[in-house]
Amino acid sequence: MSKHVLIVGASRGIGLGLAKEFKERGWDVTGTERSQSEELHSLDEVAVATLDVTDPSTFSVDGEFDAVIVNAGITGAGHQSSEQATSEEVAEVMMTNAFGPAHLGKKLLPQIKQGGSLSFMSSLMGSIEDSSGGYELYRTSKTAQNMLAKGIAEQDAKQRDIAVLSLHPGWVQTDMGGPNAHITVEESAKGLADVVENASGGYAYVDYTGKALPF
Ligand SMILES: NC(=O)c1ccc[n+]([C@@H]2O[C@H](COP(=O)([O-])OP(=O)(O)OC[C@H]3O[C@@H](n4cnc5c(N)ncnc54)[C@H](OP(=O)(O)O)[C@@H]3O)[C@@H](O)[C@H]2O)c1
Repeated sequence: MSKHVLIVGASRGIGLGLAKEFKERGWDVTGTERSQSEELHSLDEVAVATLDVTDPSTFSVDGEFDAVIVNAGITGAGHQSSEQATSEEVAEVMMTNAFGPAHLGKKLLPQIKQGGSLSFMSSLMGSIEDSSGGYELYRTSKTAQNMLAKGIAEQDAKQRDIAVLSLHPGWVQTDMGGPNAHITVEESAKGLADVVENASGGYAYVDYTGKALPF
C-alpha cells in the first residue's frame, strides 16, 4: 500500500512543489488550500481539502497519514519591526506561523501512523544562535514555532514513536523567497522529501539537505 502524506498549504510555492515531488515518488497525496488553487487541482490524483491554519473550525481532514507537513506560513507585516508592530500584526504572524500550526499538529497526531512523522516548515531565521537580527516579526514567529514543535515531540509524539521535524527549506525561489533566492522549488522539495522519508523518532531541526541546525 502507498504511503500517504498531508501537505498543509499546498496552493503554491514549496507546498505545491512538495505535493508534486511526493506524487512522483508514488505517495498518495492530500494537499490543502485556503481558496481555490488551480495548480493544486490540476495535479492528477491529489486529494484537496480546505484549511486555514488560523481557524480551528477548518481543522478536519480525512485520512490516516504516514507524514504530515505543516508548510503554511507568512512573512508578516512589511516593516518587520518590533517598534512599529501592532497587536494585530503580532497576532497574525504568531497565529499563522506558530500557534495555528502547533494546534493543528496536535489535532492531527491521532491520524498519523505509529512511526510516522509530523513536520513544521520552519526557517533558519528562527535560529537564535544563527541570528544577525532584523526580520523581527518573522524570526520570532519561527523561533516560537520551533519551541512548540519540540514540546509536541516531547509531550505528545514520543509515545507513538512519531518523529517531529522543524524544517528549513533553504532560500527558495517563491513568492516569499523572491527571484534572487538560491534554489528552485524543485531542489528544495526533493531534499525535504528525502529528509521526511528518512525521519525516525525524536525531534530534529534540520535543513533540506538533512544538516542539523543550531537553536
Ligand atoms: N521561500 C523561502 O525562501 C523560505 C525560506 C525559509 C522558510 N520558508 C517557509 O516555507 C513555507 C512556504 O514558503 P513559500 O516560500 O512557499 O511561501 P509562499 O509561496 O508565500 O506560499 C505560502 C503558502 O502558505 C499558505 N498559507 C499562508 N497563510 C495561510 C493560512 N493562514 N492558512 C493556510 N495556508 C496559508 C499559502 O496559501 P495561499 O495561497 O492561500 O496564500 C501558500 O500555500 C513557509 O512556512 C515559509 O515561512 C520559506
